[in-house]
Amino acid sequence: MRPRLAVLTRIRRAALCCGHTRRLSSCAGSGLVVGSSRELVQRLGSKVEVRTAFISEEEEGTLLRELEPSLKKKRYEFDHWDDAIHGYRETERLSWGAACEEVLNRVRTVAFPEGSPLLGPVHILDLDKTGYIKPHIDSVKFCGSTIAGLSLLSDSIMRLVKEGANDEWLDLLLPRHSLYILRDEARYNFTHEILKDEESVFNGKKVPRLRRISVICRNLPS
Ligand code: OGA
Ligand code: MN
Repeated sequence: MRPRLAVLTRIRRAALCCGHTRRLSSCAGSGLVVGSSRELVQRLGSKVEVRTAFISEEEEGTLLRELEPSLKKKRYEFDHWDDAIHGYRETERLSWGAACEEVLNRVRTVAFPEGSPLLGPVHILDLDKTGYIKPHIDSVKFCGSTIAGLSLLSDSIMRLVKEGANDEWLDLLLPRHSLYILRDEARYNFTHEILKDEESVFNGKKVPRLRRISVICRNLPS
């Protein structure tokens, strides 16, 4: 009974990536982005967005009430070490209640160019407290230029590392209730990952990683 998961798995093309060296950190205006150089933060800054408090606590509750029943039917996966994700369960959803649909329409309006055809189902990824997402690039065959995700239940750190140049990186602080958007170069030429709790440090400050649910919208390749 896992055809849907098979589709979701194909979204991620694992990219080998290691030896991330911490170097100079420079802060973008928002304080939510640091990176290996000021130039990179500035250049890639326009391709990366983090909008804090994009949803309210009440909207988070509404989303969770709609998502939890289908997530609870699944077990967290810890065993597939070659997967891009460790300690997770996931599902996708095509039709939503009115209140959730309204939140998602807000995401679609701010994240995607008008008229851009979207991947129908919204992807829901539930990371256990010990779960994390390894560096990968979403499949260019199945998803287009833009990835937008809401973060529920926990703050986290998303790390972008340039493919073939590990010394070029950005860390994004993704606060609970925020929306992040990755576009173009940030989506195609950089791997992204969600750090595990032990490594979850932003600008020298520990960011506790609890259970985290993300609600991710993508567009279709053009
Ligand atoms: C993915 C992914 C990020 C997130 O599922 O491909 O990168 O915010 N998820 O959960
Ligand atoms: Mn991804």
